[in-house]
Amino acid sequence: MDSKKLAAEKAVEFLKDGMVVGLGTGSTAYWAIQKIGQKVKEGLSIKAIATSRASEELAIELGITMLPFAEIEQIDVTIDGADEVNNEWNLIKGGGGALLREKIVAAASKQLIIIVDESKHVGQLGRFPLPVEIVPFGYEMTIRKLRNLGAETSIRTKENQMFVTDNGNYIVDCQFGTISQAEQLEHTLNLIPGVVDNGLFIGMATNVIVGYANGTVKLL
Ligand code: A5P
Repeated sequence: MDSKKLAAEKAVEFLKDGMVVGLGTGSTAYWAIQKIGQKVKEGLSIKAIATSRASEELAIELGITMLPFAEIEQIDVTIDGADEVNNEWNLIKGGGGALLREKIVAAASKQLIIIVDESKHVGQLGRFPLPVEIVPFGYEMTIRKLRNLGAETSIRTKENQMFVTDNGNYIVDCQFGTISQAEQLEHTLNLIPGVVDNGLFIGMATNVIVGYANGTVKLL
């Protein structure tokens, strides 16, 4: 079985009747949403909130009951992917461009289960360029400030157009090299006017599940 799917299906075992569940975004979270849809058809009673329009549409298609934030005090469990996870369970996220909604949902969750294949488990963060969400106004200046912090930057495009997030913003992929002071960098970036948030998720994951190509799955 696909190692992303293995990790995703293991995470779904954590869900119980009555829970409010955060649905992640990306090709690994896709498998979790599929499995949740199957469990719901078999009788699992949960309600969900999604981290992107794409995940919300998929969940609705599968018959999962969705809730607006106005009806939620706290999310019990969120299941989401990551682009990198290190041994301290700090993460780089945002490869799919959903980092802002993902961080809002993660910050409202009692439990954040991260599901990855083995290629995402790294010794040190930074090989994957860090996605930073910025507002369109003055974006050239914001990018200059990111460069001044030492990043090699690349504004994300899709089909030769500027990539626009679900929130109407742009994404700049920033290569900082190995990130040793991740918490500090997360805060420094968010102090730049024009930066909405960045893909460093520090101290947020409560569980990490890794799927391996040999068909095994491990809870770190
Ligand atoms: C979405 O913006 C991301 O944070 C994803 O969670 C991350 O990019 C992992 O995506 P895949 O599961 O598709 O690799």
